[in-house]
Amino acid sequence: MIAAATDESIYLAAKLLAEGHLVGMPTETVYGLAANAWNPAAVARIYVAKSRPSSNPLIVHVASVDRLKDAIHWPPEPLIQRQLDAVIDLWPGPLTVVCNKSDQVPMEVTAGKQTVAVRIPAHPVALKLLSVCDFPIAAPSANRSKYISPTCPEHLLGPSGIAEHLSLVLDGGACCWGLESTIVMLGQQPQLLRPGAISVDELAKRFGVSTESMLGARVISPSDDSLGDELLAPGMMREHYCPSTRLRLISNADTLAELSNTSRIGRIAFQPLPPSEAQRYETVITLSDAGDLAEIARGLFAALRTLDAQGLDLICCDTCEPTGLGHAIMDRLHRAAARYEWDE
Ligand code: TXA
Ligand code: MG
Repeated sequence: MIAAATDESIYLAAKLLAEGHLVGMPTETVYGLAANAWNPAAVARIYVAKSRPSSNPLIVHVASVDRLKDAIHWPPEPLIQRQLDAVIDLWPGPLTVVCNKSDQVPMEVTAGKQTVAVRIPAHPVALKLLSVCDFPIAAPSANRSKYISPTCPEHLLGPSGIAEHLSLVLDGGACCWGLESTIVMLGQQPQLLRPGAISVDELAKRFGVSTESMLGARVISPSDDSLGDELLAPGMMREHYCPSTRLRLISNADTLAELSNTSRIGRIAFQPLPPSEAQRYETVITLSDAGDLAEIARGLFAALRTLDAQGLDLICCDTCEPTGLGHAIMDRLHRAAARYEWDE
């Protein structure tokens, strides 16, 4: 099922995709659940495999800037072209743009929308796979809907995985970013739909707009799930990435006093804890020696999955300043804890 990414296995993956099967694909952000974007039946299988609501559209992955025209309305309006020009050198990379779709993209991919999300991934295995396919690849993160995104091939297997729906998983190692791509909706007032490794400040600078003007998109509570169709990014639902174990975000030490009655607690630390503090936890996972945000992002989802598998009563996780990559880290953490924050 998991195959080392060789030329042979990549060609096999391309053949399986052409036949309408689903394949696990490494990207530099998270692993994707890949299907031939031109094949509505294959795309429909993605929704089944993930138990994903049919209102939540998929990202289309293309091999190069030349192939953007496969996915987006071509030629783009002058404003959209200027905005594309402003970010084009960030590709291949962890950036997704949303703009009007080409006629060729099936409605199954865009969940009935006239817009499409598109990106050029930087992972060499994904790029090679795309270059040998004569179709773009529709791929959401390869996790069950609302669970934590996979950042290594093993995450696609096991009880929380989607293995039974996959014909093959290409092993591209651990993802180097570990958080999903930044998503921006192009237009009169470009909007950040999901923070990622490319910061909103960087995008605002390139578009010549203020950061604040890009942050207007609405984030909603879990009870608003039924409004999926009306959201700019249906995946912006507040509750997402949820471990099954209760998750608590720790911003200062004094919240720990109330935890003393809880028996088995796991801790995700952004840098080493003093031994006196570490000893109160059943397990401690330390993501970085020096609080480096890129290291923290890279290890965060795997740490959540590891602790979630340990049958703990509670997972406590550090927090960081929500700027730069910290914006994406805190976005994922708030959503992972949303089910529990809402209760309180
Ligand atoms: O890093 C990534 O982007 C990964 C890798 C595999 O490429 N993919 C990923 O896909 O995170 P997914 O499906 O888990 O998240 C895609 C997000 C969803 O929140 C979806 O609602 C949003 O993109 N999206 C897709 N098409 C859209 C559209 N036309 N308009 C607004 N949002 C859209
Ligand atoms: Mg996802």
